[in-house]
Amino acid sequence: MTSLAERPVNPKVGESVTHESAAPHVTGTALYTDDLAFRAAGVLHAWPVQAPHAHARVTALRPAPALQVPGVVRVLTADDVPGVNDAGTKHDEPLFPTEVMYYGHAVCWVLGETLEAARLGAEAVEVEYEPLPSILTLTEAIEANSFQGNQPTVSRGDAAAALAAAPRRLSGEFELGGQEHFYLETHASLAHVDESGQIFIQSSTQHPSETQEIVAHVLGLHSHDVTVQCLRMGGGFGGKEMQPHGLAAVAALGAVLTGRPVRMRLNRTQDMTMTGKRHPFHARWEVGFDDDGHLLALQATITADGGWSLDLSEPVLARALCHIDNAYFIPNVEVHGRIARTNKTSQTAFRGFGGPQGMLVIEDILGRCAPVLGIDPGELRRRNFYEPGQTTPYGQPVRHAERLRDVWDQVVARSDYEDRRKAVAEFNARHPHLKRGIAVTPVKFGISFNFTAFNQAGALVHVYKDGSVLINHGGTEMGQGLHTKMRQVAATALGVTLDHVRLAPTRTDKVPNTSATAASSGADLNGGAIKNACDQIRARLAEVAARKLNIHPDDVRFVDGRVTGIGFHDSDLSFEEVASAAYFQRIPLFAAGYYRTPGLHWDSARMQGEPFKYFSYGASVSEVEVDGFTGAYRFLRTDIVHDVGDSLSPLIDVGQIEGGFVQGAGWLTLEELRWDTSDGKGRGRLATQAASTYKLPSFSEMPEELNVHLYERATETGVVYGSKAVGEPPLMLAFSVREALRAAAAAFGPEGTVVELPSPATPEAVFWALDGARSAAAPAEQVDASGDGGRRVAASDDGSRETAASHDDGARRVAASHNGDQEVAASENGAPEVAASQNGARDVAASHDGAREVAAANGTIRRGAAHGGASSAGNGESRETPTASAGADTEETVGI
Ligand code: MTE
Ligand code: MOS
Repeated sequence: MTSLAERPVNPKVGESVTHESAAPHVTGTALYTDDLAFRAAGVLHAWPVQAPHAHARVTALRPAPALQVPGVVRVLTADDVPGVNDAGTKHDEPLFPTEVMYYGHAVCWVLGETLEAARLGAEAVEVEYEPLPSILTLTEAIEANSFQGNQPTVSRGDAAAALAAAPRRLSGEFELGGQEHFYLETHASLAHVDESGQIFIQSSTQHPSETQEIVAHVLGLHSHDVTVQCLRMGGGFGGKEMQPHGLAAVAALGAVLTGRPVRMRLNRTQDMTMTGKRHPFHARWEVGFDDDGHLLALQATITADGGWSLDLSEPVLARALCHIDNAYFIPNVEVHGRIARTNKTSQTAFRGFGGPQGMLVIEDILGRCAPVLGIDPGELRRRNFYEPGQTTPYGQPVRHAERLRDVWDQVVARSDYEDRRKAVAEFNARHPHLKRGIAVTPVKFGISFNFTAFNQAGALVHVYKDGSVLINHGGTEMGQGLHTKMRQVAATALGVTLDHVRLAPTRTDKVPNTSATAASSGADLNGGAIKNACDQIRARLAEVAARKLNIHPDDVRFVDGRVTGIGFHDSDLSFEEVASAAYFQRIPLFAAGYYRTPGLHWDSARMQGEPFKYFSYGASVSEVEVDGFTGAYRFLRTDIVHDVGDSLSPLIDVGQIEGGFVQGAGWLTLEELRWDTSDGKGRGRLATQAASTYKLPSFSEMPEELNVHLYERATETGVVYGSKAVGEPPLMLAFSVREALRAAAAAFGPEGTVVELPSPATPEAVFWALDGARSAAAPAEQVDASGDGGRRVAASDDGSRETAASHDDGARRVAASHNGDQEVAASENGAPEVAASQNGARDVAASHDGAREVAAANGTIRRGAAHGGASSAGNGESRETPTASAGADTEETVGI
């Protein structure tokens, strides 16, 4: 038997093949869970009764009026639950709640002969609520001490002492937004019950085994009573890792109670208002550098907005903590993590699983600090890369750290970065109202589930007498091409052509106790299991063939569906002949395969260990162009070099890199979730609940030129056929877009301007950032804090008083007349001029706020205080950053 990573001759892995469902996808014949409902007879449709409160007690619930609506068959309530009334694994998610925890929370479900009947029935259900106080924002949660779950800390060395001794110290705050998955297929399940009470659920789920477990809990059954199948998903992106369970349980409960199939499919609005999203984060940080820009210490507290229940928030936070270093060696680290409980949807897994949030914190820090340190941001990043032999703050050696520089240097060369930087500077010198920015950022991402037990997988491989092969594995297909890769793995391991191998839908009765298809580990884990099953079968077939060919079994070769011996060029057998012969010799032609990732251990209490099998590396260069009048931007070009080991399927991998990158760019630029944070009736309501208000990247937001290059000669020993995971890491290649936007915004100000960029960096946010840069003081005054830190703080003190004052002013003016937008126009025109004087700058800051007030008056929700500091003068909060006694003269504040 060969090693896991070794490839035989003519392997099917490594070939560029199209996605196994590409033709059905584009012709519309591919079936998704909800399509199956229309093939079943007597199906009932489910509709939720969603609460119109962010937080409330249900004081009465009267289903009776719904039953008067024609076509309504049943109303499902807590009283119907035979088992545990809980949708999660943490027992903090009542499936039918008596306390509404977020606006849109489903309190009960109506089943109807038609969807319309169910909808009308849901309107007729009478619910009485007693509203309770609610917490919506991270700021509110932190103030109210509203936290849930563990509060882990990652630490190494003595961060406090190292900070105190650091020649350069900077501190700040950062708040970053969440993200809606917006998979094309919304949540769906279809439940059947058979004559023996066996439940069969088709579900759009990344984790069929856990869906099975939760359904069994809710119904008071055992796992063997429930089978879950997932044909394919129209995207999951982490949103279907845990969120499908409760929905499947409602469908299953309905099927049990009515004896009829029950179809559950959320429409887009329901999906957006009911299901979890990427966690927003808040970070407060302090960082120390030596005079050359080497990181010496990082102290931070990061707070994830978990929404109303824990769901996957703890592991998401753990991954954020394990990625706050990204590609950089930080000798002294102390990072505390905590999870806010807020009255919003329960935030959940989303591509990168907290990793992107942790990495964004350090990338934001470096992007903000570089101009203060007077070092080019790219150079500052490269200077801090891990070196071979160094370990992460949680104690894992950084395997193949040299690839960081390699990948970086390659992308710099391939993108003509140096020449284009000069071209960008020349362009900017010629264009007062249009600026370009170019930036390069790295990615290092750990592969494996932090929770060691999840790193196992099973497979079931059948060879039929005619030589055709059917493979089952525990992974689910969500568009990422896992099934395509698994066919290639099986064909390679058995030495047959791709058309020999067919893949059966993922089912819990074929492969039990599976892990979620998540953490990008689907191919590593299931590929390992499939190869293991195929190796067993091939070894048996080698004995059969050896007898026929009159050679030793070790000398039998399986290539492209032919079975031969070393050096045999004329006599060979077909795979079919050997399979058939094996059957007649009563040799079993099927096998169960198993794989467990070796060498992992993780102590989640101490946050120490080696949780990852390896790291994935990548780097990207992006160039953008920003309009100084509106903040609107274009993505001109992105170049990527990414490490997928030896690719199992290059076309699939390039697709994953492109898709991940664009999804990351969407998160960082356009996609903005807004909740109603007013005290009005709609408090807690998701304001962006459709594609009309939630802006997704589309073709027009693709970089005009996008070049993806797979890192070469990248064999990852110890992983199936030398490959690496690809699903999540490319999302973080989009950091270069954000940093390019920062650079472009800075180019509106004097050289070395510090730009604080909210996340997402929407055109609106970019406008305020560049407007702040335009009015920024000369960098010498701005940055030379060390000596005259006091003065600078005093200065911004004044500024903020001004701001507060004119704030009111603006509001009053707007209230008085609708001429407010003239004020905005004025400040836009004024901006280029005011850069000249300090006073002017203050005036601009003032009219900024006026402008924001105007926007508010026009119905745009006002940005929170955290975003108010877009002008580089900083705002009030930045000064509250601990100006600790001794450090006062060395400490620099990069604003909030
Ligand atoms: N690609 C597509 N097209 N659709 C998806 O839903 N999910 C991503 C990524 N790529 C996703 C995708 C996420 S969150 C993960 S964890 C991985 O795919 C999961 O699949 P894998 O482990 O097989 O890479
Ligand atoms: Mo992916 S967020 O691990 O499903």
